[in-house]
Order: sequence, then structure tokens, then C-alpha cells
Amino acid sequence: MRSRPVRLRLGAALVGLVLLALAVPQALAQPNARPAVTPKAGYVVPPENSAGLYPVSGEPIFKARCAACHEPAVGRAPSRQLLAGRSPEEVYDALTLGAMRPMAEGMSPAEIYGVVRFITGKSPVPQSAQGPDPNLCKVNGPLQPNGPQWNGWGRDLENSRYQPKPGFTAAEIPRLKVKWAFAYPGTKNTEPLVFGDRLFVASLGGKVYSLDAKTGCVHWRFDYRGGGRASMTVGRLASAPSGYALYLGDDRMFVHAFDAGSGKDLWSVRIGDHRVGRITGSPALFGGVLYVPLSASEESQGNVGAYGCCTFIGTVVAVDARAGKIVWTRSILEATPHPTRKNAAGTQMYGPAGGAIWSAPTIDTRRGQLYVSTGDSYTEIDHPTSDAVVAMELKTGKIRWVNQVLKDDNFMSGTINGPLGQRGPDYDFGSSPELVNLPGGRSLLITGNKSAIVYAMDPDTGKTVWQSAKLGSGGASGGVEWGSATDGKILYAPLADRPDRGRPGLAALRVTDGKTLWQVDAPTGVTCNVPSGRCLPGYSQAGTAIPGAVFAGALDGHLRAYAAADGKLIWDYDTTMPVDTVNGLKAAPGGTLDMGGATVAGGMMFIHSGYGGSAGANNLLLAFSVDGR
Ligand code: HEC
Repeated sequence: MRSRPVRLRLGAALVGLVLLALAVPQALAQPNARPAVTPKAGYVVPPENSAGLYPVSGEPIFKARCAACHEPAVGRAPSRQLLAGRSPEEVYDALTLGAMRPMAEGMSPAEIYGVVRFITGKSPVPQSAQGPDPNLCKVNGPLQPNGPQWNGWGRDLENSRYQPKPGFTAAEIPRLKVKWAFAYPGTKNTEPLVFGDRLFVASLGGKVYSLDAKTGCVHWRFDYRGGGRASMTVGRLASAPSGYALYLGDDRMFVHAFDAGSGKDLWSVRIGDHRVGRITGSPALFGGVLYVPLSASEESQGNVGAYGCCTFIGTVVAVDARAGKIVWTRSILEATPHPTRKNAAGTQMYGPAGGAIWSAPTIDTRRGQLYVSTGDSYTEIDHPTSDAVVAMELKTGKIRWVNQVLKDDNFMSGTINGPLGQRGPDYDFGSSPELVNLPGGRSLLITGNKSAIVYAMDPDTGKTVWQSAKLGSGGASGGVEWGSATDGKILYAPLADRPDRGRPGLAALRVTDGKTLWQVDAPTGVTCNVPSGRCLPGYSQAGTAIPGAVFAGALDGHLRAYAAADGKLIWDYDTTMPVDTVNGLKAAPGGTLDMGGATVAGGMMFIHSGYGGSAGANNLLLAFSVDGR
């Protein structure tokens, strides 16, 4: 998904990093291309290169400082290929604490991150020693499986992103106030998961937390040098001490199971071995099986001459939720990538590739199948299941149908590995298909993509039943990014378009025929306090609906609620406003709203602000209730 070459010019003022007017393409995988940003004075670059704020390409640094001993390998030095198999943390530690410290002498943190990313394809999670949390809960009562829930990405198996029992009314939304806030390391975070009186959150900074939903006190925390941003899910597990497991899919393609009550590590399994593969879409849990989608950051290897691109193909892995055993692995394409041409640096290229699955699978219990939506193709080699919705049999993963809405959307950031010939517009699907069961037994599978078009398909045949008007310009960072919400009658599609090229805002479509009922523009020119300066009005974050209202989160940090009936703006809260947190931080700022959206249950609404390092190394977790009660 996305990532166009963007030229960033950062002054030396930025955290004192001397970047010498480096204008280097970003190397990232997330669905919003960023325009140049002007960070606020005093803004501290976060420890992970998640937001493109380390505009340093590691390849030239490696050539200049490391290749003499590592490529080809001299003496005891391991080859670059061998180093590629190490975890980014190992390489980072070797450069900052270990044997290679002298070789990294004088390198800026940005250069170290750049070279680690070049070698391993991943950002390291720094060792952030953290003591016990200052606000531990005094009581750790039993879990409440019958309490309020927003469990998993879309709240239900159909991924509606609709909460029928929010615990507050649309009329009370203007009275929503921050009840508590919590800030913790991680530049990208999972959508907050509500399970009874517990809230579960995790981050790319390697933190997994169980918090009290009402107060934000900490029931438990699990630290590891990995981390995830895919939504988690809780399920019944008889062998877990509390009877329930919390499942997390991480950025290294591990699926972990924790005891939901205590945080005890139950099992973990690595479900893929692609060098730059990861889990971005939430695992879907049904019938004791986790259906886990794989994505990759391969699209952003476009300027890494030494990278033999591209070999990743979107894949779903079914994992037995009890023991962590892989049940089946299904690629969305039968073909395996074969050698094609050499790039300008002489490196062998491969294809077909692409079709990353960025969003959570949708489970159709009636038809015994699941649906995933896929991203673009990376190369010029035909990829018939990219930019598509794919139906797979739950039992085996066998593909039942594919509906590709755009052929030959061949896209890579950068040029050296980019597709030969026609380049596509980067119209990935980044949002889950939503299964809507209509009165009379008919069902529709509805999802939008970055073209700013929403498609409805017949779940039995995969045929397109309707497609909406083009609701905006779309683009690599536009259109529908992470997800719509539907109450079964209307589908609310947030649009991330850039204001100069398209129509950022929110559109309401009639589910039966895709007719636009209303469309509102996101306010532009609002005061934007995002510390990284990432100030765009688009609604890139997934939307959330409750009876009578829809929530949409903007890149400029504003969280808004609109009336479901006519799109009237009923509430606007600037999540960048610094707040004191219940874990002891004074005036912690928020930032950009993106990816996982607001979750609502039990009279509370939860949201992460500060996506992609836009607020620094921490994300701010905000908990709202009516009058802050
Ligand atoms: C002068 C030669 C030389 C240069 C230059 C050099 N290395 Fe090494 N590197 C070595 C040798 C030799 C080893 C094996 C060390 C050992 O076995 O104790 C090694 C080991 C490593 C390891 C594994 C460390 C471990 O603890 O297992 C990493 C990672 C590494 N180098 C990265 C780099 C990077 C990145 C650079 C450039 C910034 C670099 N090296 C520059 C010679 C070099």
C-alpha cells in the first residue's frame, strides 16, 4: 500500500540530527503517503522509524561504512545475507552496545536506524527499560465475559464497526469528556479492545497492556522487543488460567497468546518467513481458529538496489487458537515469484508479487467462508488477485472466488525496483470487507479502497452488485484507507483525500444500492497541533458507528462525530491537546489519528492519538465518557 517517494527536507534543528539536506525517499509500509512535514520546535524523533521521520536511506551508509568487511564477508565477519537473517534488535544492539560500536562511531541515531532497516528490512524496537507502572490496579477481579465488548477489529465477525449498545446516546455525544488518559511507548498502536471491565492495548514499541476500562489503572503489562499494531482479540481458552486468552499478531509475523487475566505468556508461533513480512490486519477468531492475514513492507523497497524485489504475496494463515499450531497457510496466488529482470544495481528481480492483506478477515459463518481484501501488485508481472476481494473456505483456505477490481495496479515507492512499463495508481484495499445481511436473506459484502470507490459484492458469487460514485480523488494516500462502518442500512465511508486534490470527508451510502445519501467535507484550516506537523484534514482512520452517529478521526488529530441521518457535525475534539495521564505524565500531547479507530462499549469511547510517531515516541490513549463521569 502506498508510499510515494516524498522529499523530506528537515533542518538541522530537528532533534539536532545533521541530515545535510538529505532528500531521500521514504521506505515504509502503511497506507498514507505523507507530504513533507514541518515538526514543531522541540519535537523529538521517536525511536522507531514508523513515520518516515528518519529520512535516511541505509544502503549508502552500509556501502560506505560496512561493506568493506561484510560484502563480500571478510574473515570472521558475517556476510550481509547472514546479517539479514538477524533481528533488527540484534543488529541495533551490535551497533550501539556490542562489537560493532566502533564501526558506528559518529553515526547519528537516524543513520543507525537507516542501516538497521537496510540490513534487516525492519525497524528495531529499542530496549526501553521501564520499571513497574506507577498506577497498578489495587484489585484484579475476574474477567467479565458478559460485560460490554468491542473485541477484535470490527467488533463482530462481519466487521461492521458498529456498536449497537454504546452505553451513551448520540444526543449525549456533545458531552463526551476525557475521563482518563494514558501515554505509553509505541508509535503505532492496536485499536483499544474492550472486554468487560478490561481494556487491552499494544504498540509497536513492544508493550502489551491490560488496563481497567473505567480508570486506566494497569492490571498487567508484557514487554518484548517486537510489537504490534494489528488489533487484538480475546477468546475463550480453557487451558488459560483466567479461562480467556488475548491474541496478538505482531510486526515480525508472530502470533502470541497471553492469559487475558494475568498476561502470562501461553504460546507464540511464527506464521511466515518473508524477510519484510508482518501482521497488520487483525486476526479474526472463530471456532477455535485464528485467521491471520499477512502483509509486508516490500512495496517500500523500491530504492534499495541490493534488495531482490519482489517476493511477497498476500497470505492468510489459520492457527489453532488452543496450541498455536498452524492449521493451513493459503497464498492468494497459486504462482510463486520467479526471476524476471535485473534492476539498475544489477540485482535479480522477481514477480509476480503483492496483494498484501492490510485488514482483518471477515467471517461468514453461514457460508463457511472468510473474505479478505488485498493491496496492489508490486511488479509488472500479472497478479490476478491484487486489488481484489478474495473468498476462502474456512476449513481449508481454498479460494472460492476472486473479484479483482483493478488490474495491473503495479506500484512501488522509489524507482530502482519499480515496475517496468505502466505504473498503477496504488489503489489498495486497506479496509476489511463488511458483510451485511439484508432482510429477506440476501447478503452483500461491501468495502471501499483508495480509489474512493466503495464496492458491494455478492458473497455467493463474488460478482459486483453495485459500485458507488467516485467519492473523491483517491490516491496513494486518499480514498477509503482503513475502514468504513455500517449499521446495516447505511455505510459510512471516511475519505482520506488530500484537500488540494480531492475531497477529504465522510460519505454515507445506502447499503442496498450504493446511492450517496450525504457527503460532508472535513473542515480544513483548523488549528493543527500535531507535534510532527502532519496536518492533513483527511479521515484516514477507520470510522465507527453507534445508533444515530458516526465517529471519524482526522490526520490533523481532530476526532469528530456526525449525525447518521444527515451528516450534521455534532462534536469535534482536538486529540492533540496535551493532557495529564493517569500513569504520571504531565501534559502528554496527542497527534495524528490513523488506522484503528474509536472503540465504544460500556458508556466509554477509547482512541489512540499520535499515530506513526506524530506525537513523539508515545501514543496517547484517551478514554471518554459523558461528562467525564
Ligand atoms: C573492519 C571490518 C568491519 C566493518 C567496517 C564492519 N564490521 Fe561488522 N563485523 C566485523 C567482524 C569481523 C564481525 C564479527 C565479530 C565477531 O565475531 O566478534 C562483525 C560482526 C557484525 C555483526 C554481528 C555482531 C554480533 O555480535 O554477532 C553485525 C550486526 C555487524 N557486524 C554490523 C556491521 C555494520 C552495520 C557495519 C557498518 C556500520 C559494520 N558491521 C562494519 C567486521 C566489520
